[in-house]
Amino acid sequence: MNRTRCDQTPAWAALQALYDQSGKAFDLRDAFAADPQRFARFSQDAPHVFADLSKNLLDSATESLLFELARQCGLEQHRDAMFAGAHVNTTEQRAVMHFLLRNPAAPQYHPARAAINKIADLQAEVHATLDAMLAYAEQVRADEAITDIVNIGIGGSDLGPQMAVLALNAFAVLGKRFHFVSNVDAAELSGVLAQLKPKNTLFLIASKTFTTAETMLNARSARHWFEAQGGSDIGRHFAALTSNVQAASAFGISTTFGFWDWVGGRYSLWSAIGLPIAIAIGAEGFRALLAGAHAMDEHFRTAPLAQNLPIRLGLLDVWYRNFHGFSSRSIAPYSSGLRRLPAYLQQLEMESNGKRVDSQGQALPFDTAPVLWGEPGTNGQHAYFQLLHQGTSVVPAEFIAVKKASYQLAGHQEKLLANVLAQAQALMQGKVDVGGHKHFPGNRPSSFLLLDQLTPTSLGALLALQEHRVFVSGAIWGINSFDQWGVELGKMLAQDIEPRLQSGELAGLDASTAGLLQRLL
Ligand code: F6P
Repeated sequence: MNRTRCDQTPAWAALQALYDQSGKAFDLRDAFAADPQRFARFSQDAPHVFADLSKNLLDSATESLLFELARQCGLEQHRDAMFAGAHVNTTEQRAVMHFLLRNPAAPQYHPARAAINKIADLQAEVHATLDAMLAYAEQVRADEAITDIVNIGIGGSDLGPQMAVLALNAFAVLGKRFHFVSNVDAAELSGVLAQLKPKNTLFLIASKTFTTAETMLNARSARHWFEAQGGSDIGRHFAALTSNVQAASAFGISTTFGFWDWVGGRYSLWSAIGLPIAIAIGAEGFRALLAGAHAMDEHFRTAPLAQNLPIRLGLLDVWYRNFHGFSSRSIAPYSSGLRRLPAYLQQLEMESNGKRVDSQGQALPFDTAPVLWGEPGTNGQHAYFQLLHQGTSVVPAEFIAVKKASYQLAGHQEKLLANVLAQAQALMQGKVDVGGHKHFPGNRPSSFLLLDQLTPTSLGALLALQEHRVFVSGAIWGINSFDQWGVELGKMLAQDIEPRLQSGELAGLDASTAGLLQRLL
């Protein structure tokens, strides 16, 4: 497969030349004045998401060169390889097929195409597991005795389900409370347990590996609490969501929903890890979430480069990171329901593309993932937007707005929408003031994603859009977006340090760690 590294392509050099000549000095206000079609040219409909990219620092010539870069890097072949089930996660020798979890129909068997037949077999397993999980979700929804669902998991086994349950609150079953415990700080689990009664509680132990230290300790403490409070039927009150079914049964859990090693943790909310979402919004709602994501998968798989929204966004990310040198992106969802989206996207982008070597392990001479951060609007406006407007660094913003509110209170939606439009406008236009303090330089870029309404379908599409744009920049950078070796060293050192907190043993530690440990004894 042709995967030429981006910095070795002619398009990369051409982009650098273009940046030096005109890209660096690009001014949005001039660009809009010169081109009355700019909004139409740089906005598009994708499934369930409308995107306005016109307030970004690029013109058609730049975008054409970015498409050329994509071609020269073999982006389309890499995408097709993922969809064909190739082992694109090269360091773990795994396929990457979270898209299969949302595919409504299996591919037709083909007498001579073993790869297709293998995917068809997997698809059948996916649907059988999905049917079983959704039947269980419906059973829990109908069970009035279960009032509290506690998801115990961390990283992808927490962020996706938590974000989606909050986002889809307007569609959630009444009479059930959802709790998410991820932190190993006892404050979190204790705070939740204090509100619960064993007979009314369902614990979902969510862990792909079923070995993650924090989750296992929280799960053991929850079981201990359950038994100490007189709870007895673990089979009814605990379920496991994991690809390590054996470990779940060794823990004593008999109700288990499995998934596969080709589903990465940060891509797992579509699998059994999505059970809290399914309990909240029901089987039909969960299938709508999958359908929205599938529509975006098909868009990503088939739309030509110039109308392919994940590709346009991913290439824009490369343009900003590698040519403009912008080191972060701010996510501003103007929707309270999406308040955990920035945290979810942090894992998606930074765990996927926060890499310093290419897929062959060679050190990269250019930057990769930006830092992602953000808060919902309008809250962010009253906190860090000062820096976006007048700070010394340019931070591209990504606004996400929803046309139709899920909750109606007179005047609220108008104010929310007026603010999101105004912020994007202010960042771009700026304001001249001789006084200095009140001067806004403007020309600060932003993208604007618009959903008609925050529904399971549109949320599914929005999340798949984000997954694929991360794939695109990762593919251009030539990295493996699907491993996460960078999280391992700290886990290993914590295992060494933990017994020292009892024994006081300091041998072999650096002076700072030893000094801190002594203060903690
Ligand atoms: O440590 C990082 C990580 O492996 C993430 O990739 C993952 O989402 C999280 O931990 C939780 O892992 P698990 O679902 O196996 O408990």
